[in-house]
Amino acid sequence: MKITIIGTGYVGLVSGACLAELGHQVICLDVQVEKIEMLNQGKMPIYEQGLDELVHRNVKAGRLSFTSSYEQAIPGMELISMAVGTPSADDGSVDMQYVWSAAREISKHLTDYVVIADKSTVPVGTAEEVEEIVREGSGILCDVVSNPEFLREGHAVFDFLQPPRIVIGSNSKRATETMLHAYEHVDCPKFVMDRRSAELTKYAANAFLATKISFINEMAMLAEELGADVTQIAAGIGSDPRIGKDFLRAGLGWGGSCFPKDVRAIRKMGESLGVPLPIVNAAFETNAGIRKRVIDRLEKALGSLNDKKVAVLGLAFKDNTDDTRESAAIDLIRHLKSRGADVRVHDPVAKVCSRETDGHELEHIACPYETCRDAHAVIIATEWEQFRTLDLARLKEIAEGNILVDARNLFDPARALECGWRHISVGR
Ligand SMILES: NC(=O)c1ccc[n+]([C@@H]2O[C@H](COP(=O)([O-])OP(=O)(O)OC[C@H]3O[C@@H](n4cnc5c(N)ncnc54)[C@H](O)[C@@H]3O)[C@@H](O)[C@H]2O)c1
Repeated sequence: MKITIIGTGYVGLVSGACLAELGHQVICLDVQVEKIEMLNQGKMPIYEQGLDELVHRNVKAGRLSFTSSYEQAIPGMELISMAVGTPSADDGSVDMQYVWSAAREISKHLTDYVVIADKSTVPVGTAEEVEEIVREGSGILCDVVSNPEFLREGHAVFDFLQPPRIVIGSNSKRATETMLHAYEHVDCPKFVMDRRSAELTKYAANAFLATKISFINEMAMLAEELGADVTQIAAGIGSDPRIGKDFLRAGLGWGGSCFPKDVRAIRKMGESLGVPLPIVNAAFETNAGIRKRVIDRLEKALGSLNDKKVAVLGLAFKDNTDDTRESAAIDLIRHLKSRGADVRVHDPVAKVCSRETDGHELEHIACPYETCRDAHAVIIATEWEQFRTLDLARLKEIAEGNILVDARNLFDPARALECGWRHISVGR
């Protein structure tokens, strides 16, 4: 099949490369010319396990190409999949400018019937609106389907090729057949439903997962006060299949490129329709207080944060990605800087610019041990696997102080204590 992917970011590039791997002829389009130039030179604009190899293999095989020209990417396609960003607007609703702009551009260059799939996470009713824009703008028949994406950054290639399910929201038999054909070599349940249900399914999934994380963080707060251990509680409840063991890790709460904006969006939807969503709202409120609570515990342990040297290990919002959008680590850093701490940071792949930290320039250090040299306190802010195997005794020798804030519960408290640390973890 001839497929265009609009938006070559975390979702678009992975989708494009995987669809090419499945045998389709794919063009990835992006308005960021530098990104397309990088890709055409064989360089990856993002870090995602296995993506580099997948892209190179499919480019070499002639199935995958990159462009910034709508004129080149739209005519003659059978499927156009939109994966542009849908960030939060200032009021918490969804900023739809990239979706509308992509729809207008498609309409200018369309020559024949096409199926347009919306892979971006978008408010309910978007498929209908995109269809109207493209049909009116081009005068050509098209069908717009909702095809929400559920991949996890850090496991994106695996998730795309071996997903737990694919959701297709469609009101046209012809469009449904095109979508099923596109995914015919992906072996998983495929749920075909109406477009509005598909659009809401994505928000419901993210709101549910965020709520689960907020729930375990509430249990962590209670465990801290009661002398219980939240990791044991998570194991104890997670083994019940009705509950499930995933998304039960207490820590710094949910962040990242999707959960915060998607929870804001569903709250906004509820608010504008007069449908109160007390569970989702509570999950949001709980999450908002978690990082401050961790910093308060550190401040109490140090007496004051002013002029204290604090090493932060981890910037990405989760392991195995370079994505720092709404990362809990960045939120921690903002709190630390606002209380006068001298912050140094290390992450295996992610970097942070001063725009993300209220104008504060941060020193990025390549070695995790060097980051902790003379530090009064060390914070583990991202659950990178390589942090688990850090030599805590060596780290303790290098640091000036003895406070280890293990905000992702990576270390055994007894081992940390043995190495001379005062170990502050979450819910233990
Ligand atoms: N990142 C994830 O883990 C994830 C998972 C599931 C769903 N989603 C959803 O997928 C969508 C994309 O997310 P992402 O993380 O890939 O975003 P991203 O910011 O990494 O990529 C979006 C890309 O779209 C490009 N773009 C913007 N307007 C364009 C236009 N008019 N024409 C062509 N390109 C344009 C941008 O330049 C950018 O490269 C969002 O709606 C997001 O909520 C993301």
